[in-house]
Amino acid sequence: MQRYTESADYIKSIIGDRRPEILMILGSGIGFLADEIENAAVIPYADIPHFGVSTVDGHAGKLVIGELEGVCVMVMRGRMHCYEGYTPQQVSYPVRVAKLLGVKSMIVTNAAGAVNLDYAVGDLMLISDHIRFMGMSPLTGPNIDEFGPRFCDMSNVYTKELRTIAKNKAAEMGINLREGVYFYCAGPQFETPAEIRAVAVLGGDAVGMSTVFEATVAAHCGIKVLGISLMSNMAAGIIPDALLDGLDVEEVGERSKDSFSALVRACVPYMR
Ligand code: HPA
Repeated sequence: MQRYTESADYIKSIIGDRRPEILMILGSGIGFLADEIENAAVIPYADIPHFGVSTVDGHAGKLVIGELEGVCVMVMRGRMHCYEGYTPQQVSYPVRVAKLLGVKSMIVTNAAGAVNLDYAVGDLMLISDHIRFMGMSPLTGPNIDEFGPRFCDMSNVYTKELRTIAKNKAAEMGINLREGVYFYCAGPQFETPAEIRAVAVLGGDAVGMSTVFEATVAAHCGIKVLGISLMSNMAAGIIPDALLDGLDVEEVGERSKDSFSALVRACVPYMR
């Protein structure tokens, strides 16, 4: 608890009496939203006590705190993944710091492989729920009761309330928003076709390598989660004989970034 408090106190010393209401963890494609934050305080992760760690590929992560659509938000420019060597606790550490700063809800986005045969590349999927059988829970170890209970309810992580907002906004904007289950696979290799067939049997609509740890820690401490995945490819084996060789997730993100970022922006004022 002391570590989280020291991280939060450092951030408070920089942002004065401003307090973020929404945490935004933006995956492939729409990280640029961090550059559209107004009156931004930009804080390198490396400066924040205990926050760790710049990302493994050399991109220094930064926290951007300021206004988006008139709401004070905290954006993570650069996120951590377990496949980079971080633990689930490290990946989700910023969520608890956000909680101590007063954040009530979180938007998390990612790129994912489509498993549901009705989906197409470029589609956006509202995450209704997730499956994480791989990797340890970030809640492993002594429970910090100030954040939440030992055995935490996971029945409404991606809350119905926030999903309804996103569905209404997408309908108004003419965006075809799918809704489905995000299945976590640890990566960094893509899945085998046999693994993807198993994911489909188990109820996954899309498969990806992020998000579930942050969402779990958010649920534990009472932060509501809105999750949206961009289908960057059909998952392995869905298209017979197609390979994922050379798949450029960022490039597919580039093509959908306008509708994706517009949808996220439109939800922000209704999430506070
Ligand atoms: N599998 C896992 N993660 C992903 C994929 C995929 O096919 N596409 C984008 N992220």
